[in-house]
Amino acid sequence: MKIIQITDLHIGQENEETMKVDVRGNFHHMLKKIKEADLDLLVISGDLCFDRPHADIYQWIKIQLDKYEIPFLAIPGNHDESKLLAKSLKMDGLLKNGELYFLKKWGNWTCLFLDSAIGKMSNKQYLFIEKSLAEATGHCLIFIHHPTAKAGVHFMDNKYAFQEMEKIQNAFSKYKGTLNIFCGHFHVDKIVQFQNQNIFITPSCYVQIDANSTSFKVDHYRIGYREIKLLEDRILTGVFYV
Ligand SMILES: [Fe+2]
Repeated sequence: MKIIQITDLHIGQENEETMKVDVRGNFHHMLKKIKEADLDLLVISGDLCFDRPHADIYQWIKIQLDKYEIPFLAIPGNHDESKLLAKSLKMDGLLKNGELYFLKKWGNWTCLFLDSAIGKMSNKQYLFIEKSLAEATGHCLIFIHHPTAKAGVHFMDNKYAFQEMEKIQNAFSKYKGTLNIFCGHFHVDKIVQFQNQNIFITPSCYVQIDANSTSFKVDHYRIGYREIKLLEDRILTGVFYV
């Protein structure tokens, strides 16, 4: 199973100013590269919209994905609206009380897709996580927009971290094995090992942030994607810049 993850597209409405970055051009360039990579699934892990969510942004994204015939799944980020995203991307069958979380199984891999759009989660989603992890056999991976531990990205850790760290750690800590967690949101390429979690932060399709700065500072404008290969007994992953 070969998955490609992209994140934090931050696509604006037509003619919306996006800090002089050609976000729509970036997305096209990315899709072209991804198509060449011969993948089974593309996962878009949130922040599809630049600032505020709009149906026409999601619809434009859907048209491009269909054009390239790329099979995809998406989860929302803090600049998305779960219901609007799900409806526009034809994923509304996966909505649960307005949240877009679900489970997929591939061979001996169980994969949870979580909805952290508002920086926290409903109790129902926490129950879903605990139940799914308790029942999982084989190996587990998780896609979630927000990193689930502090990552040494000072500006993001201090201002825009997931708001219920203790609650999510509690849910994850009940799992006996290692959780491979794939996220975005922080606009960096980083790996955090914390408790039973390997947290892989994937760079953005927009701009990368200087992890050492306490205020917002662009590090660079190269865009990247993550490749995730699920083998029977291991996971192979790396970031590629395009
Ligand atoms: Fe975000």
